Amino acid sequence: MEKIFQFIRSQYPDENPIGLHVPRFSGNEKKYLEECIDTTMVSSVGPFVNRMEIDLAKYTNAKYAVATVNGTAALHIALQLVGVKKDDLVITQSFSFIATANAIHYTGARPYFVDIEEESLGMNILSLQILESELEKRSDGVYHLPTQRRMAAVVPMHSFGMPCEIERIAKWCEEWGIPLVEDAAESLGSFYKGRHTGTWGKVGVMSFNGNKTITAGGGGVILTDDEELAKRAKHLTTQAKLPHPYEFIHDEVGYNYRCPNLNAALLCAQLEYLDDILEDKRNLASEYARFFEEFAPNFRFVTEGNFKLSNYWLNSLIFENSEYKEEFLKRGVELGIMVRPAWRPMHMLDMYKDAPRGDMFQTEWVYNHLVNLPSSTRRR
Ligand SMILES: Cc1ncc(COP(=O)(O)O)c(C=O)c1O
Repeated sequence: MEKIFQFIRSQYPDENPIGLHVPRFSGNEKKYLEECIDTTMVSSVGPFVNRMEIDLAKYTNAKYAVATVNGTAALHIALQLVGVKKDDLVITQSFSFIATANAIHYTGARPYFVDIEEESLGMNILSLQILESELEKRSDGVYHLPTQRRMAAVVPMHSFGMPCEIERIAKWCEEWGIPLVEDAAESLGSFYKGRHTGTWGKVGVMSFNGNKTITAGGGGVILTDDEELAKRAKHLTTQAKLPHPYEFIHDEVGYNYRCPNLNAALLCAQLEYLDDILEDKRNLASEYARFFEEFAPNFRFVTEGNFKLSNYWLNSLIFENSEYKEEFLKRGVELGIMVRPAWRPMHMLDMYKDAPRGDMFQTEWVYNHLVNLPSSTRRR
């Protein structure tokens, strides 16, 4: 165990304590922030917001990108865009950050949790196939027979930046006619068969929280190829205000979810050297992989697998023995090296313990055996 911590220290010699994922600012961040202040464009209208949208659409190859205050807000809107309503069910994985289920809850729908697969840490296609016997296609959608609720969307998540089996999941959604909303909050820079995560479904979302690969401080984006949905996303995120030279007219209940120019400025600066950051993160992941192969071959360092390119947002290690995980986390705290467990699966939390769900075998196994390792870029 000590050798692992020594190895981590060797990667971050100037850091104490060593964080899990700390942001680095070495480009035009200060210049762009000053520009916002000098022009007084600090709020939700400004050139950096527009530029952030153009840059993200270009990078991900999505037709449209709509900037939001954070990833949770993006997800909340994305679900509404595909028609999720009160009392619907939304299929998602229990193994995710709480925001995934919370956004479903905000719409008045309920999550239906499915298992993940140990290999990709993402939604298990088998769990969807098992669920088929409980589904029925009707004129107004697909219904879940035991609860008599409509299955309104499927929300897979690319855990720690590792692409899930998105092609198969997208195909399943198409066959059933259930909209796919990708939670790509963690996976800017991650691709499956050359196609960016977050662009496989009707709508995808990303987060630019301070802990992500690059950050806006707080920020998010909605990605879609559908012009009407993009227009509606912008409308809903800007209080549903109708354009008018001076009147304030709103045609439905909207949200104050637009990304401020200040945050967009930070992100635009970071986007300029995203490729450098991703390259360094890939190098770090290969160094971790080599280290574990040599010194601890019985631990599984999680790698991207076939057809996938991961951003390696957070590197993950799986121990054979769950007690070892606890010891490892405690020792990390003593040494000031931030290693951390995965999120407690949502079906184990008070708010969601009664949500309908399938088998959670792999979700619970992974939760009991996985830790995340420090993964910040080493470039400044
Ligand atoms: C999987 C997942 N979904 C949603 C979010 C929500 O993003 P935000 O924190 O920007 O609201 C995050 C991250 O924070 C996340 O990791």
